[in-house]
Amino acid sequence: MNTPTVLVTGATGTIGRDLVPALLARGVTVRAMIRDAGRPVPGAENVVADLTNPASVTAALHGVDAAFLNSPSAPDAAELQIRFADLARDTGVQQLVLLSQYAARADSPVRFLRWHAEVEGHVAGLGLNHTVLRPNLYLQALLGLAGTIARGFLTAPIGTAAVSAIDTRDIADAAAAVLTTPGHHGRIYTLTGPRAMTHDQIAEALSTATGRHITFHDASADRFTAALTGVLPPWQLAGLVEDYAHYRRGEAAEVHTSVPDLTGRPARDLTDFARDHATAFTPALNKA
Ligand SMILES: NC(=O)c1ccc[n+]([C@@H]2O[C@H](COP(=O)([O-])OP(=O)(O)OC[C@H]3O[C@@H](n4cnc5c(N)ncnc54)[C@H](OP(=O)(O)O)[C@@H]3O)[C@@H](O)[C@H]2O)c1
Repeated sequence: MNTPTVLVTGATGTIGRDLVPALLARGVTVRAMIRDAGRPVPGAENVVADLTNPASVTAALHGVDAAFLNSPSAPDAAELQIRFADLARDTGVQQLVLLSQYAARADSPVRFLRWHAEVEGHVAGLGLNHTVLRPNLYLQALLGLAGTIARGFLTAPIGTAAVSAIDTRDIADAAAAVLTTPGHHGRIYTLTGPRAMTHDQIAEALSTATGRHITFHDASADRFTAALTGVLPPWQLAGLVEDYAHYRRGEAAEVHTSVPDLTGRPARDLTDFARDHATAFTPALNKA
């Protein structure tokens, strides 16, 4: 019997880099969709394609059984993902697993949650075997702040609100389970860590893991915006501010059991993340 082939988009990204080995370990053939032929993904068939180029996407989809769809938030993200999903249906792909976000809703005040909801709604109407994964805030997003954390500061406009943030390795493992076992058609899985945590608790866990004193400082949305103006594109920055306002309102604190239900083991805790990434948050060892 032929092993199924799964196309992984964003194969070099936060989820994809762990999803590819997780799928390989489950015995499927992985086709990694990459943009740069010079950076192939080890262990996978590599295909060069760009979501903005439909002909390249059709070629990448040709002959695959299932596809994992994930791309960065951008003003045209919904359009690009909807076109990818249409092309997947047209090329006869049997199964589509969509990476969305916790609390995706068409009427959300958070633009990222609105575009994800738009894609979810479209995919649900295609008649494909499809599954939606809605992960909460990524713990790995802290790696983007590693430079300042290594200097002892964690700053965000979130106050004392708790968020059930998730380790992205668990998102990859959950996606691998959905892509390789039956029974997930039409399901929406909200993926969270095993507990909700405040940013004070995150700073405490990073302090313990690094043996250094790291403190959390709350920031107003205005100060946060001023600090990142010119660093992030305006659309992205405005979306991030909306995301944090949603966290601050306590709207992302529910704990769900989808990770253990899908993977058969507990979700990784904040302490696991902090221990495994301690060098990134330690001066001299940190390169950011
Ligand atoms: N960050 C969070 O806390 C969080 C929480 C929940 C949900 N999410 C969702 O996670 C998703 C991914 O976010 P992320 O920032 O972590 O990004 P990411 O998955 O790391 O995405 C980057 C990947 O997408 C590829 N890519 C970028 N533009 C592409 C294009 N035009 N065509 C094909 N591939 C392209 C990149 O390829 P190259 O290597 O060629 O650049 C890279 O592999 C977003 O939808 C976001 O809403 C994020």
